[in-house]
Amino acid sequence: MCGIVGYIGPRKVIPVLLGGLTKLEYRGYDSAGVAYLDNGKIEVIKEQGKLDNLREKCSGIETDNTLGIGHTRWATHGAPSKINSHPHLNGSGTIALVHNGIIENYVALKEWLIKKGVKFVSDTDTEVAVHLIDHFYFGDLVSAVRQAIEMLEGSYAFAVISSNEPDRIVAVRKDSPLIIGKADGENILASDIPALLEYTRDVYFLNDNEIVEMKKDSIDFFDIYGTRIKKQTTKIEWDVTQAEKGGYDHFMLKEIYEQPRALRDTFSPRLKNGIIDISEMGIDDDFIKDLKKITIVACGSASHVAHVGKYVIERIAKVPVEVDIASEFRYRHPLLIKDQLVIVISQSGETADTIAALREAKSQGVKVAAVVNVIGSTIAREADAAFYTYAGMEIAVATTKAYDTQLLSMYMLAYAMARTRGTISEEEYDRAVRDLSLLPEKAEETLKLKEAVQRIAYERFMDEDVFFIGRGVDYALSMEASLKLKEISYIHSEAYAAGELKHGTIALIEPNTLVVAIATQEDLIDKTLSNIKEVKARGAYVVCVTTEKYRAKFDQGVDEFLILPEIADIEAPIITVIPMQMLAYYITLNKGFDVDKPRNLAKSVTVE
Ligand code: F6R
Repeated sequence: MCGIVGYIGPRKVIPVLLGGLTKLEYRGYDSAGVAYLDNGKIEVIKEQGKLDNLREKCSGIETDNTLGIGHTRWATHGAPSKINSHPHLNGSGTIALVHNGIIENYVALKEWLIKKGVKFVSDTDTEVAVHLIDHFYFGDLVSAVRQAIEMLEGSYAFAVISSNEPDRIVAVRKDSPLIIGKADGENILASDIPALLEYTRDVYFLNDNEIVEMKKDSIDFFDIYGTRIKKQTTKIEWDVTQAEKGGYDHFMLKEIYEQPRALRDTFSPRLKNGIIDISEMGIDDDFIKDLKKITIVACGSASHVAHVGKYVIERIAKVPVEVDIASEFRYRHPLLIKDQLVIVISQSGETADTIAALREAKSQGVKVAAVVNVIGSTIAREADAAFYTYAGMEIAVATTKAYDTQLLSMYMLAYAMARTRGTISEEEYDRAVRDLSLLPEKAEETLKLKEAVQRIAYERFMDEDVFFIGRGVDYALSMEASLKLKEISYIHSEAYAAGELKHGTIALIEPNTLVVAIATQEDLIDKTLSNIKEVKARGAYVVCVTTEKYRAKFDQGVDEFLILPEIADIEAPIITVIPMQMLAYYITLNKGFDVDKPRNLAKSVTVE
């Protein structure tokens, strides 16, 4: 949701900024721009479209400039055009600013500034910020930024430069991420860690309303009152090669194939002497025993994890679970109770709606645990406890490996709680631990469905509507299968509880409509089979996703199979998702679309 970068140091700044933006392009890619100081003047280069367009525009420019800021945009206010792209300038061109977030009171501020004679050139909310800083600027950029943000409502991470103070970048954040990388004789800031890793592993995480003044040899922090504050660096241990495609055509494919490793890394450290250790959730045995309710809150794919989590936790640990979409949570005025746990799930740890939900729960005095992938992210820091998924860096916009490790976390939580609450026999617990340990191998085996999936993808990539149906956890998984397909292939698709189809949606089934039926749960097989027959009777083309042991049940009734490795029914979603991700991937490939950067989307949704 927009990526910002800023660099000061001895290197030529344009390649550094472009390199940083490349690592941030997953955050938005409808336009991009850079601003840098050249002979005491600010120069701006911007271009509409993907970063390559900007790269091309910059290609002839040979300068030795060593300070600059850059931006890659996901449009909110104003169309994705050159004029609306960042950096934005004040009237005299002496201050440049890049912004990630939304200024909610920009209309009132714009009117106020226009009355003072300011001329606006773009349709963005961002432009008010640069004019406001200009309004307060009397030779001290930190002070001007500090006064400007006092008037701003909304979310922001800004990086600002002024030609009057050519030795510094000033930046600030509120509800949008900003990380400062400390290196030797050079410093760099960015919206996310991958953009910094080439230069340093020592980073500062900026908190809300903290201002940073970054020079070549120094980094100073100030609070909202202008008082100097001290901050500690955190060492980032990530492997830089995770940010490379490593021989795969796309990050999405690489990340699909990384799932066995991701599952292993997420499970192994928590298995201690045959017991699943969920102490990182911050809940002790007494709390677990007294637990009356769990509310799981998340967005998009992470909310689909929550739906599987509901089935699994209720079934295994016998705790009532409600699922909320984060963007709805605080506006429905949720009634949270004592003795309850709120779990927020997030890959990025920066999703604005999920952060707002977390804060709502905390404001009601309820314990909040986060299942989160990005270490040191806002959600990881603000929750009472962070249970990390070790999926590693996820670059493709459509989540795959993070989703699967979130899913695994739900099972670990369910089984660990069940053991404490005495709702599971020792035998069943040991079976579960054994099976969860084997998941990486099962995932590996599932990847062998590639050819079968490719064939279906080739036959069906021209489809205009696809339906995914299932019951129980298979229904919860269908939601993710459907989202994967629509978000990257742009094919309209819907997920339906198989039994619900006949209450209206079946009207959409025509001869040859593709229906993917997921059926991995023994107790529901016959019911799902009836629903398959209903769509077959209307001419649907049915692909059935099941395990070998249930195949015979469907033999006569379906057109194609995707047969999963044998697995305990309840845990099937963890591997079922893999051929669904591959189906979306190969269909999109056949259509010739950009798999890693689908239109209109951004990886990290830091606006409401
Ligand atoms: C879909 C996808 C999104 C995210 C959602 C939440 O493939 O990735 O639906 O799941 O935007 O993002 P996080 O998990 O970062 O909070």
